[in-house]
Amino acid sequence: MPSQFDQEINRREVPALKVHRMVLGEGGAGLFPAGVADMDFMAPEVVRAAMQKRLDHGIFGYEAVPDALFPALTNWMQTRHGWALDPSHILRSPNVLNTLALAASIFTEAGDGVIVQPPVFFDFYDILEENGREILHNPLVLKDGRYTMDFDGLEALAAQPNAKMIYLCNPHNPVGRVWTRAELRMLGDICARHNVLVVSDEIHGDITFAGHDYTPFAALGPAYADNSITCLSPAKSFNIAACCSSFTVISNAARRKAYQVENSRLTVNKNNAFASAAMVAAYADGGSWLDEVLDYLAGNIALVREALKPLDAVQMIEPDGTFLLWLDFRAMGLSPEDLTKFLREKAGWAVTRGQAFGVEGEGFARFNIACTRAKLKAALAQLTTVLS
Ligand SMILES: Cc1ncc(COP(=O)(O)O)c(C=O)c1O
Repeated sequence: MPSQFDQEINRREVPALKVHRMVLGEGGAGLFPAGVADMDFMAPEVVRAAMQKRLDHGIFGYEAVPDALFPALTNWMQTRHGWALDPSHILRSPNVLNTLALAASIFTEAGDGVIVQPPVFFDFYDILEENGREILHNPLVLKDGRYTMDFDGLEALAAQPNAKMIYLCNPHNPVGRVWTRAELRMLGDICARHNVLVVSDEIHGDITFAGHDYTPFAALGPAYADNSITCLSPAKSFNIAACCSSFTVISNAARRKAYQVENSRLTVNKNNAFASAAMVAAYADGGSWLDEVLDYLAGNIALVREALKPLDAVQMIEPDGTFLLWLDFRAMGLSPEDLTKFLREKAGWAVTRGQAFGVEGEGFARFNIACTRAKLKAALAQLTTVLS
């Protein structure tokens, strides 16, 4: 039976980054756009209807946070993820990257170390470099096709006198791990022992597949919540990155106050009417749409798994969550530059280069599968043809 997600929508009708020359480069218009981390699917009908209703109101003057927003978010977290999130701990933020940057600038000082676990989302590096923080690398361990954390390495880094913070990616972009409670507890205990503040980016938390449950780091218990800052956002879950804002959860009262003071100093306080309408509708009524999209994504992953199985040149790292596949092309023996060239010129794929996620990503590519199945099939056929 056809799915609503089979509908091909021309993303070039708006300046969508995924198909923009800024991302695809000159002459890249014909490539399969598998880089930027959003979905080619229309946002849920309930979200579009709420935005339309807001548009029809016709007045777009200054607005407060709608009363329904935090209850919609806390109810979502409780019913979907079993997290009794205290609404008084939630601050509204413009976006997740803003929270990561602010957290580093408020709670660490120039020269302090912030731990990251590569291969990891490239913006973590940019933010830390631009804020003059030392990046402390604790690479993930890849064994038998699965990534885990190196807890000994983490303990050693956390014990360094200048280690003050960790950027946790939960679930982890790009390797698709949904960290288990046990893993998160281990990380939390190490960080607590060494006074390292956990900043947990949970933007991909809603996108998990059968057998894998996302655990909000702060939901592990009050001590974990107290030593953390959590970033939540509906951007990925409902494909509304260009018209939503995000949430910063800070349980520790003194830290929350410090964060609010900085927000106030920087006048980060504007509420966008369309973002508010979209987010209330998404969290209140978008659950069944998300379930459908997760099924469709799982189907797309199954398609990639089958297509790549006979190929020796590439191995798919099985994802627990996210719509980003981490593909291992190391068997081809190409340099990172030649791999990008091969994928672009021979397979017609515009992926995110593995090396963007750290040296640990060399020989890999991040491949976004949140597109129509027909498009994905065509892209896979092209790769299969050039490899065989
Ligand atoms: C792990 C992660 N964090 C943050 C972001 C960006 O979040 P925002 O658009 O809210 O700044 C992305 C987008 O790809 C992401 O993958």
